[in-house]
Amino acid sequence: MGEAERAAGRVASVMQEARVFPPSAEFSRRARIGSLEEYRRLCAAAAADPEAFWDERARELPWIRPYTRVLDWQPPDVRWFVDGRINVSAVCLDRHVAAGRGGKTALVWVGEPAGERRTLSYAELHAEVCRFAAGLRALGVRPGQVVSIYMPMTPELVVAMLACARIGAVHSVIFGGFSSEAIADRNHDANAVAVITADGGWRRGAQLNLKKNVDQALASPHHPPTTVKHVVVLRRTGQPVEMVAGRDVWWHDLVAGQPADLPPEPMDSEDPLFILYTSGSTGKPKGIKHTTAGYILWAQTTAEWVFDLRDDDLFWCTADCGWITGHSYVTYGPLAAGASVLIYEGAPNAPHEGRFWEIVEQERPTIFYTAPTAIRSFMKWGMQHITGRDLSSLRLLGTVGEGINPEAWMWYHDVIGARRCPIVDTWWQTETGGIMMSPLPGCTPTKPGSCTLPLPGVSPQIVDAAGDPVEPGEGGWLVMTRPWPGMLRGVWGDDERFRETYWSKVPGKYLAGDNARQDADGYYWIMGRIDDVLNVAGHRLSTIEIESALVSHPSVAEAAAVGRPHDVKGEAVAVFVTLRSGEPGEALQDTLRRHVRQQIGALAVPDDIHFAAALPKTRSGKIMRRLLRDIAAGRETVGDTTTLEDYTVLANLRGHDE
Ligand code: PRX
Repeated sequence: MGEAERAAGRVASVMQEARVFPPSAEFSRRARIGSLEEYRRLCAAAAADPEAFWDERARELPWIRPYTRVLDWQPPDVRWFVDGRINVSAVCLDRHVAAGRGGKTALVWVGEPAGERRTLSYAELHAEVCRFAAGLRALGVRPGQVVSIYMPMTPELVVAMLACARIGAVHSVIFGGFSSEAIADRNHDANAVAVITADGGWRRGAQLNLKKNVDQALASPHHPPTTVKHVVVLRRTGQPVEMVAGRDVWWHDLVAGQPADLPPEPMDSEDPLFILYTSGSTGKPKGIKHTTAGYILWAQTTAEWVFDLRDDDLFWCTADCGWITGHSYVTYGPLAAGASVLIYEGAPNAPHEGRFWEIVEQERPTIFYTAPTAIRSFMKWGMQHITGRDLSSLRLLGTVGEGINPEAWMWYHDVIGARRCPIVDTWWQTETGGIMMSPLPGCTPTKPGSCTLPLPGVSPQIVDAAGDPVEPGEGGWLVMTRPWPGMLRGVWGDDERFRETYWSKVPGKYLAGDNARQDADGYYWIMGRIDDVLNVAGHRLSTIEIESALVSHPSVAEAAAVGRPHDVKGEAVAVFVTLRSGEPGEALQDTLRRHVRQQIGALAVPDDIHFAAALPKTRSGKIMRRLLRDIAAGRETVGDTTTLEDYTVLANLRGHDE
C-alpha cells in the first residue's frame, strides 16, 4: 500500500468517526456571512460572473487610478484590475487615518523579555512607515528593487514591510531561523539591493545573531559578489555588532529627521508587492511572486470572511512574518481590514509553557490563529499551564499549516475554546496568497480534521493523473480551475519553473501539490503532498534541499531524506546517508546536524540520521523513498519491492535499524 492509499485509509476512518459541530448562533446573528444560504448565494454569484463579483469588492479599495478591466486571464498568466494604480500601504493605513480611525490601535506588541510591550495606533504606524519609507528612499531604493528583511517579530518588521510597499520596493522577508547561506541564496536569487535586519532578537531567552548572519551572508564564498548595497540595522537587544562603514546604517539614524507623511508611490495593480521563498520539490527554494491589488483584496476579503473581523476585535495570529501566514494575517489582511493586531516576539514556551495563555489573559485577544503543531505542544505541556487562566476574551479559533488531527481539534475546542468558540481550519498555501478553503464561523458546520468548503470565488476540483475529475469520494490531486485575485503571479526569475510546477501536469488548472478527497457532504479533506515536500511543525521543507545540504558535506556520498510521523511536529525529518569518509557514529551525526543548520537553518535539522552501506534504488537508479519511509517510521516494509536493485541493501538498512 502506498502513502496515498494509507492516507486515504486514515482519512476514511476519521471521516466515519467525524462529528459535526453546528455553527455558533451568536456568529450566525452577526457575521458577514451568517447562513449557508448566504454563503451559497455568494458562491453562485462568484461562479456565474467572477468579474462582476470581484469588481463589486475591488471598488471599495482606495484606487489612485481606477482599473479599466477586472480580469485578463490567459492561463497561466493572469492580470487582475488591469491598469489600476493603488498603494498597499495606503490601503492598510492612510484610508483608516483619513476615515477618522487614526486613534484606533493597529498593533499591540509583546516582547519575549518580561514586561516589554508597545502599542501603535493607526496614525502612529502610518508615521513610522512614512519615516522609514523616506529613509529607504534616501538610501536610493527605487520602485521594483528587492529589499530583504531578516528581523525578529517586532513592530518594525511590520513597518519595514509596509515601508517597502509605500515606495514600491519589493520585499523578501526571510524567516529569522534561516542560516546565513539561506540568506545569501535568497539575496542572490532576487538581486536584493538592501537588507533590513536587527542586531538580534529574543528566542527562548537567548539572543539571535541576526546581524552576524547577514554579515556572513554578504561575504558568502558560494555566491558571486553581493548586489546588496545597504544594510539597515534595528537596535533591538543591544548586543554588540560590527557596522560596516558606507554599507550599514542604524534604523534610528536613518529615520531621524524624515517626514511623518510621505505620499505613497502609485503602483500598478500587477506590480510585485513581495517575494516569499518556499520549498518545492527541487533543491532550490523558489521565490513566490505576489502582486499588488489582487493580493491585498484577497488578504482583506478572506480575513473579513473567515475571521469575521469586527471593530472591537484584537486579532492574534501567532505566525512569524517570515511565513506567508504572517504576511497575510499579521500584516496585510487585518490591517487592510482596519483591525487591531496582537504580535508576540518570542517562543510559546519562554519563559514558561503557559506564556501564550498569560498573554491571552493580559491582552484579551478575541481571535486566536495558530498551527496544529503548536496545539499538540500545548496538549503535551499539560493543563497546569492553562487551568485558572482567564481565556474568556476568545471568541474564534483558527488553525493553519497542516491538517489538524481530530484529537487536537477536540482539545482546542474543549480546552481553549471552552466549547463556545468556532474553529476555522484554513487550507491555503504560500502560492494562494490567502485562505482558500475554510469554514465560515457564522454558517459552516465543522467536522474535526476537514477544512470544509471553498470560499466564494474559489474553484477546487479533485482530479486524477489524466486531469479528469475523480468520482465523488475518491482521492486525487487538488487543483483550482479558475483564477482568484490572490494567486501567485510567478516564480521570481523562473517562468519555466512556474509553468512546470503549477500548470503542466494538469494543463490550464492550478496544481496545488496536495492530495485531497471530498466526502458525501462535499467537504474537503487534505491528505498530504503529492511531491517530496515535508511539513515539519507546519514548516514546508523539501527533502531534496536537505539532501543537497547533506551531500555538500565532504563525508557524505549520498543522502535521502524522508518524513516520518511525529506526535508534535506532524512529520519529523529522517535521513539515510552513505559515507565517502568518516566513521558512522554520534560524532558524525552531530557534525551533519550542524552542517544542515548552517546550510539551511535549525528548522531543517534531521531528527534521525541513519548510516547505510547503500541506498535502496530501482533498476533505473531512483531512490525508493517508499521503503525508506517505512523503515524511518519503524513500519513493516510493504508493497512491491521487485524493482529493487539490490535486495541486500534493504536487509542492511533493516539490520542497521534493529
Ligand atoms: O500541504 C498543505 C499544508 O501546507 C501546505 C502549504 O504550505 P505553506 O505554503 O508553507 O503555507 C502554510 C500556511 C498557509 C499545503 O500545500 N496545509 C496548509 N494548511 C493546511 C494544510 N494541510 C491541511 N490542512 C490545512 N488547513
